[in-house]
Amino acid sequence: MTAAGARAASRSRLAFALVLALAPGLDGERTLAAAPAASSAAPAIAAAGASSPATAADRGSRLFLFQCRACHSATPDRGGKIGPSLHGVVGRRAASAPGFAYSPALAGSGLVWDEATLDAFLAAPARRVPGTAMIYAGLASPRDRQAIIEFLKSSPAAPSR
Ligand code: HEC
Repeated sequence: MTAAGARAASRSRLAFALVLALAPGLDGERTLAAAPAASSAAPAIAAAGASSPATAADRGSRLFLFQCRACHSATPDRGGKIGPSLHGVVGRRAASAPGFAYSPALAGSGLVWDEATLDAFLAAPARRVPGTAMIYAGLASPRDRQAIIEFLKSSPAAPSR
């Protein structure tokens, strides 16, 4: 693993462990195949201050890879993941990706995904939407949540290739 990879892993040990636990049964090959792309993106991210939306989106792209990609694609195609595609999720009504069987809890939440609702959900999914099928402890760092939200706003394609 690269130094950048090690830093990312320790920053997000819980979710990283979750990814490792889930990857073999779900999408092991594709998760492993994504590693070279992640390390080639690392220098740009390390050099950036992460204050502008663009650099936050770069950090968010890397966080997405480790925290979310085991269960979500970021392209319109769900890509065989157990979660819905997150392509264009910002501004979308909750539980509105076509063809995904959402939990009654999320389907009935009445939420619209803007920055504030996403931030609260990603901090503690089961607290914001009790009964959600998203089994994910939450992302404690506000800066990491903001970075992932910037990434999701950028209508990304690269991390799911
Ligand atoms: C263990 C698998 C898993 C992980 C990891 C995971 N999710 Fe999810 N996510 C799901 C599932 C399953 C759903 C559908 C939840 C439901 O129906 O209640 C979901 C739903 C969502 C939704 C609502 C989508 C919609 O169409 O309304 C968002 C937003 C979301 N996840 C973002 C994220 C982000 C960002 C991450 C990484 C920080 C992440 N998720 C990590 C499984 C996961």
